Amino acid sequence: MPSVFETAPTAPSIPIIFATKATWDAICAELPREARQFALANGFSAKPGACLTLPSAEGRIAQVLFGLEDETGKYRDLFRPGLLPGLLPPGTYRFANAPHDTRLAALAFALGSYRFSRYRKSDGSDVKLVPPDGIDAADITRMAEAAHLARDLINTPPNDMGPEELALAARALASRFGADFSCIVGDDLTRQNFPLIHAVGMASSRAPRLIDFSWGDPAHPKVTLVGKGVCFDTGGLDLKPSAGMLIMKKDMGGAANVLALAQMVMDAKLKIRLRVLIPAVENAVAGNAFRPLDIFPSRKGLNVEIGNTDAEGRLILADALALADEEKPDLLVDLGTLTGAARVALGPDLPPFYTHDETLAQDVARCAQQENDPLWRMPLWPPYDSWLDSKVANVNNAPSGTFAGSITCALFLQRFVEHAKSWLHVDIYGWTPSAKPARPEGGECQAARAIYKLLSERYG
Ligand code: BES
Ligand code: MN
Ligand code: ZN
Repeated sequence: MPSVFETAPTAPSIPIIFATKATWDAICAELPREARQFALANGFSAKPGACLTLPSAEGRIAQVLFGLEDETGKYRDLFRPGLLPGLLPPGTYRFANAPHDTRLAALAFALGSYRFSRYRKSDGSDVKLVPPDGIDAADITRMAEAAHLARDLINTPPNDMGPEELALAARALASRFGADFSCIVGDDLTRQNFPLIHAVGMASSRAPRLIDFSWGDPAHPKVTLVGKGVCFDTGGLDLKPSAGMLIMKKDMGGAANVLALAQMVMDAKLKIRLRVLIPAVENAVAGNAFRPLDIFPSRKGLNVEIGNTDAEGRLILADALALADEEKPDLLVDLGTLTGAARVALGPDLPPFYTHDETLAQDVARCAQQENDPLWRMPLWPPYDSWLDSKVANVNNAPSGTFAGSITCALFLQRFVEHAKSWLHVDIYGWTPSAKPARPEGGECQAARAIYKLLSERYG
């Protein structure tokens, strides 16, 4: 998608006036008489999200009024201006006055202009914004493009986004930035000791694989990103009911967001040695599918008993994390759409994150808030670790109860991370169930912008 920002500095633009209930009277009084009459006749009262285009004497759009929450309100959606691209007619616009947060408003505008147009010509109008003064438009474009990449990857249905297509997308990104790319496919996973990735992916006619690329100066701090790439999750033999299976094309949301994050990191040329690992599989049903109570070795050497074939994400991440951990990275991050329990706890828009690193936890929480990419810390609660014990193997992938499901998943992954100096795990949803400002319904970029912000603070 082309950038939402108008690049011609002299292009004529239509001003967007932001108003709140508190500021509306003063703004109204300043409007030309006809415009004021028009706004009053239309009952505009600066309700949050309300939008009114004001005509000029010749009947052209002279300016736009847009309502925002009052400063004193309990909750202000700083992405509210993300509604504008969906409301405005084609044209070039600019902010006439300051919204609550100009940078986030411009970002919201860019995020809100996304359309998924792979299968149907976009009905999205061509709405452009003159970048507001004093903001880093290049950085906002970088974030929006990354979000659009993640959304496109997630929204693409699994018939066109299998393990191979996901690997092609990763390879395209890697080659664009001159990263070293490799991929281990099918039975080579067994030969090169990734038993769990192979076990989960072998029932699909589309071979499982481990995507691996590295970028940057090897002397720089080592940051490794691991993303769950389950291109479709039927649940396996522990088959999901149809309602639960319906949106499982999004089960590669961790991979999509890792690629989005990698794109931002490489585009901004952060001073890190970046490594991206994506186990890409389809959790399918077939005669050779892995079964409940099967026991598989893992890369780390732990034997894993399969309590539930639907807890497949943690299995493929386990082998990828074990590989990542072998080089003792300075920071190891994994993202995945791992549990329904995370949604029960915090809902679709607030992914839980886990880490033992207190400084990292504070930085993540702060960056998440600053970027309006919300994340909430949950504990790696040691007393629940024993719930993962198996009676016959080293560990079970799914405790029998359903309590604290997101925590026990994080504790399972923790068993495969030993040497990384710092580890961050995020249990994302990767999906917006119903459209919100700047967040169209469908695949969503989650956690990537917050972590990009953190990395650019540390390694910019
Ligand atoms: N991909 C799902 C998690 C998921 C389900 C995310 C629904 C968002 C919405 C994951 O592979 C899964 O099925 N997890 C199971 C784990 C359980 C079997 C221990 C779950 O959450 O039910
Ligand atoms: Mn599953
Ligand atoms: Zn899954």
